[in-house]
Amino acid sequence: MTETIFTRDILQGKVAFVTGGGTGITGGIARAMAEHGAKLAITSRKTENLEPMKKLIEDGGGECLAVAADVRDYEAVESAIAQTVEHFGKIDIVVNGAAGNFLCAADELSANGFGTVVDIDTKGTFNVCRASFEELKRSKGQILNISATLHYLATPMQIHVSAAKAGVDAITRNLSVEWGRYGIRVNGIAPGPIEDTEGMKRLLPEPLKDKITKKIPLGRFGRIKDIENAALFLTSDAAGYINGVTLVVDGGQWLLGTSLA
Ligand code: COA
Repeated sequence: MTETIFTRDILQGKVAFVTGGGTGITGGIARAMAEHGAKLAITSRKTENLEPMKKLIEDGGGECLAVAADVRDYEAVESAIAQTVEHFGKIDIVVNGAAGNFLCAADELSANGFGTVVDIDTKGTFNVCRASFEELKRSKGQILNISATLHYLATPMQIHVSAAKAGVDAITRNLSVEWGRYGIRVNGIAPGPIEDTEGMKRLLPEPLKDKITKKIPLGRFGRIKDIENAALFLTSDAAGYINGVTLVVDGGQWLLGTSLA
């Protein structure tokens, strides 16, 4: 188990459904939730992307169900949620982390390229929220949407992701208002540049990383652990009156307008 500043039982008895939960930031969130008492259902398009995380969670003494589902496919999402409820009996926490990303200039991006990322990030987030609504209503559960800061200003080569994540933030705010009456809290996290993800290694050349580091107020890139801690806080009872917030976890990076591209 990894080190923690939280007590190990803050999510005891909870069942968490995490999309994109096999790898990267959301994989870290899934593992961290398991290490703090939650039972995990993780989804991704391909089962092979889930197996290592399932094993890691189980080796750490946790319970994990791995279900393949493309968040763009509403029926597949419904089926994954049904399987989770059949297996664990309920869902308390939904984390929308499934996302697509690549760097591409707007004048080179195809309509399908733009639409694909919006479909995965925005429509996928809606699909999972919508399909889990009845379960969350029953459990007075909560949703955590993984967003970004790219759209706060403007990020070249990221028009598709910026538009998609702006949509995710709108979903967070709308659902927090519409579903608050059922006791469902809906929040988000907007990570800044996180250095230990595949995406960042793939998207960011080393010289640019050094340049950006100098412009991050806290003087370093974020780590998956920083996002895990924010996710544990927001989904725990400590955040019981926080609803409709997208928490920026970026060391103050976006305020300086430090473009990543
Ligand atoms: N640059 C420009 N366009 C791209 C692209 C890139 N690097 N990657 C995909 N596209 C475009 C494709 O050209 C296609 O458009 P077209 O039909 O007009 O040619 C469209 O996006 C769909 O691509 P496709 O590969 O068929 O979609 P997919 O559903 O299989 O996968 C992604 C889409 C985004 C998930 C895929 O590009 C991918 O696997 N990315 C890396 C993984 C990732 O993003 N992880 C999350 C990190 S946050």
